[in-house]
Amino acid sequence: MLNKLIRKNEKSISIPLKKRKENAQQEQLPGHIAIIMDGNGRWANKRALPRIAGHHEGMKTVKKITRFANEVGIKVLTLYAFSTENWKRPKMEVEFLMRLPEEFLGTYLPELIEQNVQVQMMGNIESLPEHTKRAVRKAMDQTAANDGLILNFALNYGSRDEIVQAVSKIALDVQEGNVTLEEISEELLSNHLMTKNLSDPDLLIRTSGEVRLSNFMLWQLAYTEFWFTDTLWPDFDETCLMDAIENYQKRNRRYGGLKEGEGN
Ligand code: FPP
Repeated sequence: MLNKLIRKNEKSISIPLKKRKENAQQEQLPGHIAIIMDGNGRWANKRALPRIAGHHEGMKTVKKITRFANEVGIKVLTLYAFSTENWKRPKMEVEFLMRLPEEFLGTYLPELIEQNVQVQMMGNIESLPEHTKRAVRKAMDQTAANDGLILNFALNYGSRDEIVQAVSKIALDVQEGNVTLEEISEELLSNHLMTKNLSDPDLLIRTSGEVRLSNFMLWQLAYTEFWFTDTLWPDFDETCLMDAIENYQKRNRRYGGLKEGEGN
């Protein structure tokens, strides 16, 4: 009874999402949010549905979260949609995942254009199926001039592979005499990564209770704030994103140094 009353009371004093959004906008927002969207398979299992039903529901969450991130004023949203390791999954599941960008962009591209969203992709585009490449390239071309939210899909992406490719390019430049050993720096390496035109993520979210990076943005996440939630990706919604943003806004980012006045 008491619990019931407390819960009722909590509900009545809970702040509406719109107000929470306005409050968050008064403070420093995370400019770049990266998300490891995990838990689609478990969401489907819990409902005795095939795993692909979970991925399809996960695609709907992508729409919801993109819209909301744009409304809040987030500058970059990077979504881990398919890793270089995901090819090991059953053929049918891989084929389904490769159809999702097409379905998502087929129905949602006009809205993305209207909302001034710019679609980008990081990962090895060349080894994607033709139909996936076509859909992604079309979206990138048609939104290239937009200057609102950057929606950056990590598709066929692996961070170790990205770093190896960057190092090989730099080594080649050294060999050809275009770069000297003294010129090799963090900045130079960053400028050879697939994120060279983006700031590093301020906030990383991983859903579904898993607490690992799974070969995602290993270099770029050096000083990122992490937020882990047990919520499965298809159940993740605007309120969950708001929870993560509000928590981020309470963090004290020091980048290995001290805040003013802390050194005494
Ligand atoms: C991990 O969950 C999820 C993926 C490998 C795929 C993520 C893809 C989407 C959310 C849809 C992408 C949409 C677009 C528009 C590209 P899991 O399958 O590993 O879940 P589990 O750990 O519960 O099995």
